[in-house]
Amino acid sequence: MSAVPTLPERMALFGDLLDFDATPALDDPASPGVRYRPAHWLLIENGRISGVQAHEPDVGWAQERHAGRLILPGFIDTHVHSAQIDVLGAWGTALLDWLETHTFPAEARMADPAHAAMMSGLFLDGLLATGTTAAMVFPTVHKGSVDALFRAAAQRGMRMIAGKVLMDRHAPDNLRDDVAQAERDCTDLIARWHGQGRAAYAVTPRFAPTSTDAQLAMAGALMAAHPGLYMQTHVAENRDEVKWVAELFPQARSYLDVYQRFGLLGPRAMLAHGIWLDDTDRTLLRESGAALAFCPSSNLFLGSGLFDWAAARQQGAAVSMACDVGGGTSLSMLRTLADGYKVQAMAGRRVTAWALLHAATRGAAEALGLAREIGSFDVGTCADVVVWDRARHPVEIRRQAVARDLHDAVFAWLTLAGDEHVVSTRVAGQMRYQRPN
Ligand code: GUN
Ligand code: ZN
Repeated sequence: MSAVPTLPERMALFGDLLDFDATPALDDPASPGVRYRPAHWLLIENGRISGVQAHEPDVGWAQERHAGRLILPGFIDTHVHSAQIDVLGAWGTALLDWLETHTFPAEARMADPAHAAMMSGLFLDGLLATGTTAAMVFPTVHKGSVDALFRAAAQRGMRMIAGKVLMDRHAPDNLRDDVAQAERDCTDLIARWHGQGRAAYAVTPRFAPTSTDAQLAMAGALMAAHPGLYMQTHVAENRDEVKWVAELFPQARSYLDVYQRFGLLGPRAMLAHGIWLDDTDRTLLRESGAALAFCPSSNLFLGSGLFDWAAARQQGAAVSMACDVGGGTSLSMLRTLADGYKVQAMAGRRVTAWALLHAATRGAAEALGLAREIGSFDVGTCADVVVWDRARHPVEIRRQAVARDLHDAVFAWLTLAGDEHVVSTRVAGQMRYQRPN
């Protein structure tokens, strides 16, 4: 990153503002919750949203005009791996093979602090260039990979939730920790990063198969000892994985129950995937306040299965969206949302652009207990703001020109647009990405 640009104390962005003030229905485009304010000014003071108005602000405000462009809160990615850029689009495997063949070797390289620093910067700049301003991230088992990520996020002012990956079995020698060392590393990282600026620590057991009972118990004890910590892991992603967990933990009722038994489920717990859950599991999610990260790109690429969003909603389990790179094939949340639509369509459901965008903004913020800071244009939240072109190429321009209504236009945009549609990304009001042309 270059030197921090100076921020005008008061600035106003003009464009078509789109955010949410409630949870939209999954499948009704006319559902309430959508807050669309076309040709409005978004007012930013000292890095925070201070208002939205239709009339032009007075001369005391620096102005930026984006007539006809969409302006959205920065996307929040609730599950992604900072070391897995190196395995994007790795051919030929399902989850357990993919971990052994592609992913573990890439993660082992993060033992080198210089590599971890380079990867963290590349990863975060990649997020910013695709309109994502906040994320819940798995670095690797190496303590230095967590320091590198939090340091790079702090340089960019980004909201970041992450933690040292815990794995003390069923992993290669160069990626295994042990309970005592892992506990010391976590305790030190929590003391140095949790609550520092926009960083928060997440206790991060990779998934049940790679932690012993003793390590899961240590993770639960950390959660109990430090109220306010997050927890992140994977659950019920792949059928072979689910079978393996049943063999490893015969006393547990289900895969999710393993985490419950070790005190790992609670209001700040984020579990990736949750494809192969039942209604008892979904009820447990609701009762504990834990949330699911729906990772459609990854689920399709690894052939893991089709997540049942309607069942989760019916049982009251919170669902947010996540790219899960490198299982997922793009850091882009727009690509992720478009894949989410297609996965739901396979089950005969048509989820709206509103449900998808909400789950990547305000819904994700609520799942993380951060709705007062991110995910919307509510007054007082951080000005994490992305300006988007609606269309760049003749085919898309034509498609937008014939859009029947707002939902049709926004859904077509979500489906057709990509990284090149990001005009600029601001974090706490500061410009952090600007499209070169
Ligand atoms: N389960 C355990 N580790 C991983 C991982 O790195 N990616 C995905 N998609 N699933 C996992
Ligand atoms: Zn993952």
